[in-house]
Amino acid sequence: MQRVLFVCLGNICRSPTAEAVFRMIAAREATVEVEVDSAGTHAYHVGSGPDARAVAAARRRGVDMRELRARAVVLNDFERFDLLLAMDQDNYQHLLEMAPPERRGRVRLFLDYAPELARREVPDPYYGGPTGFEDVLDLIEAASRGLLAALAASR
Ligand code: 4NP
Repeated sequence: MQRVLFVCLGNICRSPTAEAVFRMIAAREATVEVEVDSAGTHAYHVGSGPDARAVAAARRRGVDMRELRARAVVLNDFERFDLLLAMDQDNYQHLLEMAPPERRGRVRLFLDYAPELARREVPDPYYGGPTGFEDVLDLIEAASRGLLAALAASR
């Protein structure tokens, strides 16, 4: 069993989308057993469901994320999860500062798993238009496939 936590700022747009997309792809491929969760570096939206725009965009691709609820990253996440995958550089730096020094190696940028994209960040779609959510999904789908392949290879 490999445990992966996806992390963004609010845990209502990018990281719950990554959680739902990766969970679906991993279940469909069934090459590795994974436990998946997501969390935010900030607590603004704790207890809220995902942003309606993210829910609608995911639904158009066959992914249901309505049941998810936002939570903040806690210290124990660095023990519980093998990988903590940040959506952008801000989230990444925040996790590194929060991590116990011996756990910093568990923190990565999610898009490191999609080197073919030549992009390092899943951009925050919160204040933008609907195309931002489509871009987020494209990036997350690509990195999810790469992550699954990496986990399967490292078993
Ligand atoms: P997320 O998007 O980090 O992808 O969940 C955001 C959600 C809320 C805010 C910013 C980004 N906010 O400022 O409230």
